Amino acid sequence: MNQLFWDKLSRPISASAPMAGVTDAAFREMLAKYGKPSVIWTEMVSLTGMKVRGEENFENEMRFSFREKPVVLQVFGSNPDEFLICGEIAERRGFDGIDINMGCPDQGVEKQGSGACLIKSSSLAQEIIIAAKEGSRGLPVSVKTRIGYSKKSEMEKWMEAVASARPAAITIHGRTRSERREGRADWKAIAEAREIIKSINKKIIVLGNGDIISKEDGEKKSEETGIDGYMAGRAIIGNPWFFIGKEANRNERIKAAVEHAILFEKIYGETEPFDLMKNHFAGYLAGFDGAKELRIRFMAAKNSEEAAMIADSEKIDIES
Ligand SMILES: Cc1cc2nc3c(=O)[nH]c(=O)nc-3n(C[C@H](O)[C@H](O)[C@H](O)COP(=O)(O)O)c2cc1C
Repeated sequence: MNQLFWDKLSRPISASAPMAGVTDAAFREMLAKYGKPSVIWTEMVSLTGMKVRGEENFENEMRFSFREKPVVLQVFGSNPDEFLICGEIAERRGFDGIDINMGCPDQGVEKQGSGACLIKSSSLAQEIIIAAKEGSRGLPVSVKTRIGYSKKSEMEKWMEAVASARPAAITIHGRTRSERREGRADWKAIAEAREIIKSINKKIIVLGNGDIISKEDGEKKSEETGIDGYMAGRAIIGNPWFFIGKEANRNERIKAAVEHAILFEKIYGETEPFDLMKNHFAGYLAGFDGAKELRIRFMAAKNSEEAAMIADSEKIDIES
């Protein structure tokens, strides 16, 4: 079990969640600038995809700046052999850790036998963790998963299986695969999962995930459940100040929306659709008077220049 950067982090650990189509290099750069968590996750990257289509086709997903460090590369797959080689890729690119996705309910991911599907195949899941560790080149290997596939009663056996393969860290989203993102995350189950994991090995770092709305909320939940830290997802969209607990005002939000759009174009050019900014615009342009009207206007922007013109019409100086 290799802990490296994990053991150097002060508690509670804060982490930005991997979110496909959201936590790209532009957003992570915004996080690094305005409110860096203890550790940043990339979006998930397909190991099979890299093998079949070539690593060069995943440059956009694996791009990051050293300002974001420590950065964990999240991968998914179902063949232990593919995990043997991901350490080499992660090390060469300068990542600080490798995270295995064992929680994604996406049909395309599950069809390949990966993501949440692995909850139903605990011995394969263990083989995968062991293979990833074997090829890790010294990088810590972690797992992100859920409290069960269809029922919470599956949790005990599943947590025992994952922890027995001794990953450096386990992030638990407090919902089953069947619940996807519905209902409320079960933080009592997260506390129980922590007990099971720590009884197998105290050194395994446990992060809780699900419905955290603020830094204070994450810290409170960490304290109450005894976990090492928390991971936040949806609440950080359009809120790169989340991890410093700052409530940005209207002007700061509009300015950051434009800055983010400019960064997105600078990093990705034409290689990624500008429409990916819509999720972020929805997050930035909320929570102040007149936000809805502005949101509608930003949603119609086809590039950062148009976004900047909207800000300009609101007398926001994006250069200041
Ligand atoms: C748009 C979106 C994309 C996501 N992509 C991933 C992913 O690539 N890998 C992963 O492990 N989880 C992914 N998730 C799940 C989140 O990491 C997180 O577990 C979930 O949103 C619950 O946390 P939250 O309530 O703080 O958002 C995604 C979630 C969203 C909303």
